Amino acid sequence: MRSVLILNGPNLNLLGTRQPEVYGKTTLADVEAACVAHGAEKGIEIACFQSNHEGALIDAIHAAKGVHAGIVINAGAYTHTSIALMDAISSVELPVVEVHLSNIHARETFRHTSYIAPVAIGQICGFGLQGYLMALDALVQRFAG
Ligand code: DQA
Repeated sequence: MRSVLILNGPNLNLLGTRQPEVYGKTTLADVEAACVAHGAEKGIEIACFQSNHEGALIDAIHAAKGVHAGIVINAGAYTHTSIALMDAISSVELPVVEVHLSNIHARETFRHTSYIAPVAIGQICGFGLQGYLMALDALVQRFAG
């Protein structure tokens, strides 16, 4: 069975209590459980990983090559800063969908820049948890060719 890695970056472990007016009350466990359930419906195995550390996220991207068929990534604030994450994604040549819970384009201008977007097949933002499921659907369609 094909598998997809759901990768969450810094501070996303605090979902549910972190700025609920921006990110809602959904927890990371809720996000991951919804992805696992949605994956099961689509015949896709789901693996989940979260880290607050840039290097750990890079290691997870490297380790995904040959193991997972694609990646859904919410890189948190590293989205806006990390050339290293961008390079890691380019290096593994896996289809990657970038997700953000909030609409980063409707927020501070520093959030409008994404180093992930140029190396992703697409970006989904502003739909909360639903965005992760939309990203999974995009990958499933991609796998179907
Ligand atoms: C976020 C948006 C980022 O700008 C922010 O730094 C986050 C969360 C989102 O999911 O909306 O940590 O990626």
